[in-house]
Amino acid sequence: MQPDLLPDVIAIDGPAASGKSTIGLMLAQRLGYLCLDTGSMYRALTLAAILKGISPDNENDITRLASDCDLAIIPLSGETDGRHYTVMLNGVDVTWDLRSPQVDAAVSQVSTYPGVRSRMVERQRAVGRRGRVVMIGRDIGTVVMPDAGLKLYITASPEERARRRLIDRVRQGNDDEYQSILADVVRRDQMDGSRVLSPMRPAVDAITIDTTGRSAEVVIEEIMSILNLNHFQPEGRA
Ligand code: CDP
Repeated sequence: MQPDLLPDVIAIDGPAASGKSTIGLMLAQRLGYLCLDTGSMYRALTLAAILKGISPDNENDITRLASDCDLAIIPLSGETDGRHYTVMLNGVDVTWDLRSPQVDAAVSQVSTYPGVRSRMVERQRAVGRRGRVVMIGRDIGTVVMPDAGLKLYITASPEERARRRLIDRVRQGNDDEYQSILADVVRRDQMDGSRVLSPMRPAVDAITIDTTGRSAEVVIEEIMSILNLNHFQPEGRA
């Protein structure tokens, strides 16, 4: 693939904590693309429901909230606290609140509701239509952007994913335990993979990359060679 034939949309799907957000952001930075992590949208809606005291079982109120809440995802502009982007919910920076165990516990339930998904997918496609975007999620290659020029499915063993998430959590100042993180990862994979609407699964034309025991840098080099871009630098970079 030549640089001028770069896919306009790169879809990255995969299970919980598989490293897809880290890899997606690094890839977007290498290519000079926008990065949209769609999980943050479902997480922000879940947080909005928690803050309003709406139960995750209350499909009607949560669906209404999906249309009403003011959600913005803003690319990095020099922040150095390890965030990949900034998420604003009703004008408040909630970037780190999205990663709480309370949000982990409810997000997969909230993400099953058809009215929620249609609202989110509509917003995601609007970003996708602008092009030059790496979009990360569970159903990007299958449902949101089925025409994406490159589809990747990033996986790792559940134990490795739980270990990586534990490191993230400790860095963020939380004192979670490996066993409870592993249980949450396995539970969410089960719910996300078995829901009726847009279940998590690789698209038939996706390339699956198992990242167990491999660093993000090594995985990025693999993706760059899939793109035939081993020596590619985006415009404006040395
Ligand atoms: O970062 P992690 O892999 O733990 O999760 P995430 O990508 O932030 O996604 C959180 C949850 O949102 C998932 O467990 C899914 O329930 C839901 N989700 C979804 O249903 N569809 C997407 N395109 C992205 C996320």
